[in-house]
Amino acid sequence: MQLRRNCHILLALPCIYACGTDPIAAPMPLIAADAHLTWKQTRACRISHEHWLHGVRVVVNDAAWQPYVSWLPYEKGNQPFPVGAMVVKPEYNDDKCLELIGYTVMRKESAGYWPQGNDWQWFELDPKGVVVKQGKLGKECVTCHVQHCAPPNGFDLTCTPD
Ligand code: HEC
Repeated sequence: MQLRRNCHILLALPCIYACGTDPIAAPMPLIAADAHLTWKQTRACRISHEHWLHGVRVVVNDAAWQPYVSWLPYEKGNQPFPVGAMVVKPEYNDDKCLELIGYTVMRKESAGYWPQGNDWQWFELDPKGVVVKQGKLGKECVTCHVQHCAPPNGFDLTCTPD
């Protein structure tokens, strides 16, 4: 009996530390290490001038596919990204996109999560898909996306051109 009670206390512990409202608890790793090879690609390899001059691609989960591939460079009439949509940018050390060095990720949370960041949660992952940073990353991510990805250059804070 004593053992079982201790067990429950232990099981509850991670929640005390990890289940706050910000950041919303995310599985570790957030995505599989080979997600850059297995997820659907929406933008092919290019050099990103904003993302630290790395080679980058853009891949998405199923929920983000339609909104991402069909957005037009203005807000009106675009399909909204549903809760759970993930837009993932694998970053590489080379301009051929061969040597993965990590990921940046936007994941759509429930309405009201963080209106300033268009209710996206922002992530930085290591090459294995494990979270390095997550949450309402204002100065790290959103300040720049608000500046560069506002219409007519982008949609809902995404803005990689075709
Ligand atoms: C200095 C400006 C800047 C910063 C800082 C920045 N981004 Fe970006 N990001 C951009 C621009 C511009 C694009 C689109 C063009 C490109 O790929 O370079 C982009 C593209 C993306 C994309 C691909 C989806 C798309 O089409 O927009 C993701 C995902 C992303 N950024 C996530 C992040 C995250 C997460 C952070 C913070 C850890 C971050 N970004 C920080 C400017 C920035």
